[in-house]
Amino acid sequence: MYDLAVIGGGPGGYVAAICSARKGLKTLLIEKDALGGTCLNRGCVPTKCFVYDTKLLHSARNSSVLKGAGSLSMDIAKMAARKRGVVKTMVSGLGSIMKSHGIEVIQGAGELTGPGRLKVTREDSRIEEIQAKNVILATGSRPALLPFIKVDGRLVQTTDEALDSEEIPKRIVIIGGGVIGVEMATIYLNLGCEVAILELLPEILMTEDEEVRRAMKTLLEKRGTGIHLKAKAKEVKTAGRQVSIVFENAAGEINQLKADRLLVAAGRSPVLEGIRPDRLGIRMNGPFVQVNGRLETSVKGVYAIGDLVGGMMLAHKASAEAEAAVANILGGRKEVDPTRIPRCIWGVAEIGAVGLSEAEARKTGRPIRVGKFPYSYSGAAQAMNGSEGFVKVIGDSDTGEILGVHIMGEHATDMIGESVMAMTMESAVEDLAEAVKPHPTLSENIMEAARDWSGLAIHAPKKR
Ligand code: NAI
Repeated sequence: MYDLAVIGGGPGGYVAAICSARKGLKTLLIEKDALGGTCLNRGCVPTKCFVYDTKLLHSARNSSVLKGAGSLSMDIAKMAARKRGVVKTMVSGLGSIMKSHGIEVIQGAGELTGPGRLKVTREDSRIEEIQAKNVILATGSRPALLPFIKVDGRLVQTTDEALDSEEIPKRIVIIGGGVIGVEMATIYLNLGCEVAILELLPEILMTEDEEVRRAMKTLLEKRGTGIHLKAKAKEVKTAGRQVSIVFENAAGEINQLKADRLLVAAGRSPVLEGIRPDRLGIRMNGPFVQVNGRLETSVKGVYAIGDLVGGMMLAHKASAEAEAAVANILGGRKEVDPTRIPRCIWGVAEIGAVGLSEAEARKTGRPIRVGKFPYSYSGAAQAMNGSEGFVKVIGDSDTGEILGVHIMGEHATDMIGESVMAMTMESAVEDLAEAVKPHPTLSENIMEAARDWSGLAIHAPKKR
């Protein structure tokens, strides 16, 4: 009998297993594929490898100081091999970490058959019955498919295939202007492809602050991306090496785009095969498993975390929930505050954000003040040729409470951590402004935006 069995070895599941074993619980982790889940094998880490390599190419090709840069090209096979190497290193590292904690890892498909009861089908089809006092479900998500689209893996792909493909299209259409759509568009743009995005909603990146999403749209368009908003993909036809996408545009007219690749990035759906909620009476919240603040499902002793429960589908949100679920199994009362979960997007400019957008903050009815600082005013940003972007700090003008921080520009994803820390420590906007920052660095931009909140920015003209 295990104290805890975890189904799914992604950043939710493996973190849960580590936290559990650390507390001395007899822990089992069931994973049918490679440890690390979508994030490490088919998501964040491969994307980040490709964003890094292709950005290098784009920056070099557009450098005003390198000689012969115009003739540079990407060795796609090497780029793919480097990504595989990174993933392999990290997966094997996770294996060693599991071993070091004495966590038993079973390679196979796990299925919850009742409270505290599981069935595992190993790779060689052997079936094993397992009992555990507690279960954490962390089976993650997979690309959501549109009913009229057949993914053939070659002309029509999701990120599962795209991040494993060594064939780079000349012209690509991406359905979905969300996080995946923008990140993948960035990779293809950096490689010199012609990119078009079809987005159903009136704007791209609807989860982000309105100024951030507008700025990202401008940058994408400046790089030649065709962005079709309020555009509904309706039909996809493939012939030979070409794919045509029929869509209804904002005016209700039927249009068509032709490309040699279609990427479907229209959201992700939870993986429910190992759970069979209907049979076990697990309550659902739309397509997701319903949990309370303590991450408990409607079945006693069964917890669920990560993409499976909806909310922000982010690796670090899953990991935070994993830690909380284990604390709760041990009798704690830990909840994860979504307003303290940062969001990071590796687009043509990076986005790092935490907390409320300006519109969300205004909707709370509290008195709001906004501080801003453009990257173009920063010596560090100018020196690194990265003057596009800004930092925006939103705070309660009575109490100074930080309600949201939005960074767009170089190193935004690394820099947002400081604001998360400040919010977690319940610091005020003034604290972000007062802490001395090294010069010349981009970290000064947050300080300057926080100073601007009080009308005290140094490297900006006096406010009228
Ligand atoms: P998403 O929900 O962010 O965006 C999908 C977009 O597709 C939406 O804007 C939607 O309106 C649009 N769409 C849906 N059907 C459409 C149609 N028929 N025609 C045109 N547009 C259509 O989902 P996405 O980008 O696929 O990402 C999935 C999840 O993975 C998200 O929750 C995201 O946060 C997470 N993720 C996070 C990353 C990060 O943090 N850097 C990286 C990649 C994914």
